[in-house]
Amino acid sequence: MLISPSVLNSNLGRLSEEISKVEGVADLIHLDVMDNHFVPNLSFGLPVVAGVLAHTSLPVDVHLMIDDPDRWAPAYGEAGAYSVTFHIEAAKDPVTLSKNISATGARVAAALKPGTDLDSLDGLLEHLDMILIMTVEPGFGGQAFMYDMMPKIARARELSGAHMWIEVDGGVSQNTIKDCKEAGANVFVAGSCVYSNPDPAQVVRDLKALVE
Ligand code: DX5
Ligand code: ZN
Repeated sequence: MLISPSVLNSNLGRLSEEISKVEGVADLIHLDVMDNHFVPNLSFGLPVVAGVLAHTSLPVDVHLMIDDPDRWAPAYGEAGAYSVTFHIEAAKDPVTLSKNISATGARVAAALKPGTDLDSLDGLLEHLDMILIMTVEPGFGGQAFMYDMMPKIARARELSGAHMWIEVDGGVSQNTIKDCKEAGANVFVAGSCVYSNPDPAQVVRDLKALVE
């Protein structure tokens, strides 16, 4: 069971300070790359991710909400990301893309928007280390958790077997994390519930305690 705080709703003007607040307690740090094309929001790209990689001891969990990941995603692995997630809806040749990411040494994951069926991963599962099930529409932190995604989490676990990591992202909090675990998830992204609290490390500890 791994907790991956998302910095999207943290104070991005003090990014390394915000990340250091969860170092030593979090398992990963989740960075949301958005290009204002795949999603209607713009965050940051490779230069900022590379800057974070140089300053944190946490493994970096990159979530690419961008068009044309076939072209852009492997560079995040080359830069040293621990895990690189692309959206299946945006990938042109997901098998080749997954191989290209794996070749950098990074773990590779495919993300599914709430409306995207698990069938879209047909023929790809053997090339993946993780499936990311979005439990909100991607683009913004602080949205309400979509409980209707629970069967999809369970089905992803069923289809992929015990070794696959299943990550949930969107609206994960003290109220929803246990249900995600029970459905079969083992990697939990939590953004606003961690960084809206004056003690982010304590929230991460609380989340861990709920799933362990
Ligand atoms: C949304 C991002 C999430 C976001 C989660 O598109 O992928 O990682 O930061 O934030 P919360 O936990 O507030 O829903
Ligand atoms: Zn994310």
